[in-house]
Amino acid sequence: MIITLDGPAGAGKSSAARSLASRLGWCYIDTGAMYRSLALIALEREISLEDSLQVARLGEALQIVFLDGRVLVEGRDVSAEIRTDRITAATRPVADAPLVREAMKNVQRKMAAGRDVITEGRDQGSVVFPDADLKVFLTASATERARRRHLEEVSRGTQATLAAVLESQSRRDQADQSRPVGALRPADHAFIFQTDGLSPEEVVDRLVGMIESLIHDHNES
Ligand code: C5P
Repeated sequence: MIITLDGPAGAGKSSAARSLASRLGWCYIDTGAMYRSLALIALEREISLEDSLQVARLGEALQIVFLDGRVLVEGRDVSAEIRTDRITAATRPVADAPLVREAMKNVQRKMAAGRDVITEGRDQGSVVFPDADLKVFLTASATERARRRHLEEVSRGTQATLAAVLESQSRRDQADQSRPVGALRPADHAFIFQTDGLSPEEVVDRLVGMIESLIHDHNES
């Protein structure tokens, strides 16, 4: 079975997808981490981020594995490096390039083939797995998402103000929605899940409930 979880930055997709995959014993694909890893390795190998043909080839060749919440590229743990501001910025041209997206779509489909998978990103239900068994678009109001991100940053000891977090989030939302290929939008027939006022546990519990009834219907038919 394939379940897609798409939505804007800060909607809580990653933690929801990770808990879901571990509760169900399914594979987890973090496609944002794949684009980030690609940007990191392209920079290290001095491939121009604008050279989409070379970057797409690199994307097809790299071995990316998700293991116990870590991201391994060619066996190396890059989990922390890919989350730096430098890599977040470098990921933008990589993820915007249609050639790169096409290559990553094929890689993602191969990763999921024959498996039970929760896959998370921006275009998983709309482009990569349009026939997924369940397509979820996880979202929350801009202020709620910024508030959650701000709390997270404060607990990590960062000084950013709520206004600064909101500002950088709006820039990311705008960029995600205006990408010519793979733009962020709910897939056809996606379940749009507004999570304002819900705790992360409540979000996961509701999703598990939906998936369990889907599995039940699947086994009955
Ligand atoms: O979700 P995350 O912040 O890790 O995504 C990193 C970057 O990759 C973002 O710029 C996002 O827009 C992009 N992305 C994408 N398609 C996906 C997943 C992420 O373009 N399926």
